[in-house]
Amino acid sequence: MNLRNLVVYITSLLWLNLTDAKIGYFWHITDLHYDPFHSSREIHRGCKYNRGDTEHGHRAGRHRDHTCDSSWSLIQSAAAFMAERHPDTLEFVLWTGDILSSSMEHESEETKLEAVRNVTDVLSRTFSSQFVFPALGHNDPPPSRRLVDMWMQWLPTEALQTFETGGYYTIEQSRSKLRIVVLNSVLWAGGAAKTDGPHRGRSQWEWLEHVLSKARRKNEMVYLVAHAGPGVDERHNAGSSSAAGGGELTPTANTRLLHVIRAFSDVIAGQFYGHRHADTFRLVYSEGRPVSWALLGPSVTPRGAGSMSNPGLRLYKFDSNTGKVLDYTQYYLDVTNTRGEVHWAVEYNLTQYYGLREVSATSLDSLAKKIRNFHDRTTLTKYVTALRVRHVTDVSDCDAACTHVHFCAITRADFHEYRTCVRNPASALASRAPQIPAAVILYAFLILISC
Ligand SMILES: *[C@@H]1O[C@H](CO)[C@@H](O)[C@H](O)[C@H]1NC(C)=O
Ligand SMILES: *[C@@H]1O[C@H](CO)[C@@H](O)[C@H](O)[C@H]1NC(C)=O
Ligand SMILES: [Zn+2]
Repeated sequence: MNLRNLVVYITSLLWLNLTDAKIGYFWHITDLHYDPFHSSREIHRGCKYNRGDTEHGHRAGRHRDHTCDSSWSLIQSAAAFMAERHPDTLEFVLWTGDILSSSMEHESEETKLEAVRNVTDVLSRTFSSQFVFPALGHNDPPPSRRLVDMWMQWLPTEALQTFETGGYYTIEQSRSKLRIVVLNSVLWAGGAAKTDGPHRGRSQWEWLEHVLSKARRKNEMVYLVAHAGPGVDERHNAGSSSAAGGGELTPTANTRLLHVIRAFSDVIAGQFYGHRHADTFRLVYSEGRPVSWALLGPSVTPRGAGSMSNPGLRLYKFDSNTGKVLDYTQYYLDVTNTRGEVHWAVEYNLTQYYGLREVSATSLDSLAKKIRNFHDRTTLTKYVTALRVRHVTDVSDCDAACTHVHFCAITRADFHEYRTCVRNPASALASRAPQIPAAVILYAFLILISC
C-alpha cells in the first residue's frame, strides 16, 4: 500500500467513525425544590414572580424574587418548555433529586409523598415516551414501597429491587453500550444515620464496585449519577463538620468515592450531579493526570443556600452508541428581568462558550487553568456568570484569592487537598513561571561562589 492509498484508507476509517456516531439527547434536571405552600408564603413574605404582576414584581425587587423555592407554576413552565424543546432523539432524563423544598421538612410523610407524586405526574406527562431516572436528594422522602409504586413506570424490576432497599440502582441502555448508575448520596452524607442504617451505606459501596467491574468486563461505559457528588462547595469550609451536614458527602465517603472513580476511570464516561445549586464542574486526577470529569447542573429553584441563581435546565447531546458526551445547551429563566412573562432562553452551549474542542477531562483541565489566569479574566468572567446562571454577572469583586478558590474547588475534589490549595496560592501558581525562581537561585549561587 502506498502512502496515498494509506491516507485514503485512514480518511475513510475516520469518516466511518464520524458517521457512526449516533446523536442522542438527554435532559438533566435537578433541585426543583417544589414548595406547595408557595402562594401562601407569598402573602407573608412577598416572594412573587412569574405571575404577570409587573407592578409587584418590581417592588419586590431582586432579592425577594430569589428567596422562595419553586412555585407550582414555575415547575409547570419548566415542563412546558422542555416539552416544546423536545428533540426527536431524546433518549432519557436524569433527575437528580431535591424534589421538595426544604421548607417542607416538618410536613407529614403523606404531604411530602403527595408533592412528589404531583411532580412525578408532570414529568411523566412531559416525557410520555422516555424514561426518567430519579436520584434521591437529602430533601426527599427515603426509599419506600410508595416511591417504588410511583416510579415503577420508569424503572425495570431489577432496578426497583435495589431502589426499594437502598435508593440506588443501575439501568442498562439496551441499544447501546451505556450503563447508568444512580447512587443514593444521602447514604454517604452527614445526616445519613437518621434516614438509614450504616450497613446500607456500606452495601452501596460493594454494589457500586461490583457494578463497575461487571461493566468493565462487558465493555460498557458508565454514567455516574447522584444528587451530591465528590468535591467541595467553595462557599463552605470544606470537610468541616458543618459542611458535612446538608447532604454533602462525609470526608470518609468523599475519599472513598474518589478512590473508586480513579480505579474505574476507564469505565466512567461522565458524572452528573446536582445539589450545589450552581453550574460548575469537578475534575479527578490520578498521578497528576486528569482522568474523570463531573458536571454539576444548576437548580430549577432560584433559591440557594447563601447565594441565589436563576432557574436552569440542561440538555445534553451525546453519542448514544458510545455514551461519549459531545456538548450541552444550558437553558435559563431570567427571574428578575421577567416582565410578567415566563421566558426560558438559551444561556450558552458548553463547547462554544468556553471554546472547547471536546468534552473530556483533559479539555476541562485546560479550562480550569484558563479560569485561574488572573491576567486574562475572560474565562473567569464566563465561569462566574454561568455559576449563578446569570444572576451575578459582575466579577469585579472576585480578586486573585477568590479566583484561586474557584480553581481549587474545580481541581481539588479531595477535602484535604482543597484546603492545602486554598492556603497556598503560590504553590498552585508556581508552575506558571518556574524560570524566575530558578534564575534567582542560580544568580544567588553564582554570587555565593564568586565571593
Ligand atoms: C397535588 O395536586 C392536586 C391536584 O392538582 C392538588 O389538589 C394538591 O393540592 C397537590 N398537592 C401538593 C402537595 O402539591
Ligand atoms: C446551541 O445548541 C443548540 C442545540 O444544538 C442550537 O440549537 C443553538 O443554536 C446553539 N446556540 C448557540 C448560541 O450556539
Ligand atoms: Zn437542593
